[in-house]
Amino acid sequence: MTRVAVTGGAGRLGASVIDRLIYHGYDVVSFDRVTSDRVRSRQVTVDLLDEHATQAAFAAERPDAVVHLAAIAVPGQLPDPEMYRINTQLVWSVLEATTACGANRMLLASSPTVLGYHAPAGWTPDYLPLDEDHPVAPWNGYSTSKVAMEGIVRMAVRRGDALRLGIFRPCYVIAPEEWEGAPTQQGHTVNERLANPLLSAVALFNYVDARDAGDFVATWITKAHEIPNGETFFVGAPDALATQSTADAIRAHLPAFAEHADSITAHQSMFSSERAERLLGWRASRLWRDNVREPDTTPEPQEALR
Ligand SMILES: NC(=O)c1ccc[n+]([C@@H]2O[C@H](COP(=O)([O-])OP(=O)(O)OC[C@H]3O[C@@H](n4cnc5c(N)ncnc54)[C@H](O)[C@@H]3O)[C@@H](O)[C@H]2O)c1
Repeated sequence: MTRVAVTGGAGRLGASVIDRLIYHGYDVVSFDRVTSDRVRSRQVTVDLLDEHATQAAFAAERPDAVVHLAAIAVPGQLPDPEMYRINTQLVWSVLEATTACGANRMLLASSPTVLGYHAPAGWTPDYLPLDEDHPVAPWNGYSTSKVAMEGIVRMAVRRGDALRLGIFRPCYVIAPEEWEGAPTQQGHTVNERLANPLLSAVALFNYVDARDAGDFVATWITKAHEIPNGETFFVGAPDALATQSTADAIRAHLPAFAEHADSITAHQSMFSSERAERLLGWRASRLWRDNVREPDTTPEPQEALR
């Protein structure tokens, strides 16, 4: 049985990735500095910033494939220099341990924020929908660390094909319990993000169900030897997290992008995951309209009219 190590397995995305890997028949172990009751695999507690401890943990478990999710995952959570140092050091540590233990696949979680939207000095897309060929322009410690992490993976690709590498950029992750009302990563519920489009405009209305992201990871591990080494993938739902049509949401809440609004049809996402569909046959299937009722945005009747 193929053994997969998931770093950051105790996190928001990790628990669902592990669930889906188990579902797809993989033997899974989580490497995290904490454990979680939500995780259904074996859990190894290790600080992945400690290179010796990381090498020892990987040597003991001997995974065939590694999914590297561990990171400081929320922009602004730490000062920019700390964020950059920790996230880049983590990928070095995990890459070296992956190579040393003889695993032959490693997939890195990056982020769509590498594109640089909402830069204080202004940002507009070159085109819509956004795809993996769009230039990156990070503007904070988090997104700059993700660009550097992607660069470390691409460096490793140039060392040869013995290790198959991949990069995925998951859109705003919604874990199963968050459809039921638990707060999402930025602290708001899904319904609050739908009722107040400004909350979701920050992520350009993108989202992905954590289980769909988990299915992407399982598919990549299965097919990593059949696709170009080092490929990058956006991993998002095909629709936008907005009740309006996407073009109307862009005109209302992202007016600087308005010239590209008509490139998007109906409720289409501003991010294309077409490459993942073409190369891997993966497409997100858990959509917000199947999981939550559209919030009622009708204004309350005024007191005098009741
Ligand atoms: N959640 C999202 O919407 C989203 C979107 C795009 C990209 N991502 C990326 O996906 C990955 C997972 O995100 P998440 O939302 O699950 O984050 P999370 O914060 O919920 O989980 C990250 C996990 O990494 C672990 N970790 C951090 N430092 C560690 C260390 N030194 N040693 C061992 N474990 C360590 C944490 O304990 C935590 O369990 C991250 O790389 C993040 O940048 C997340």
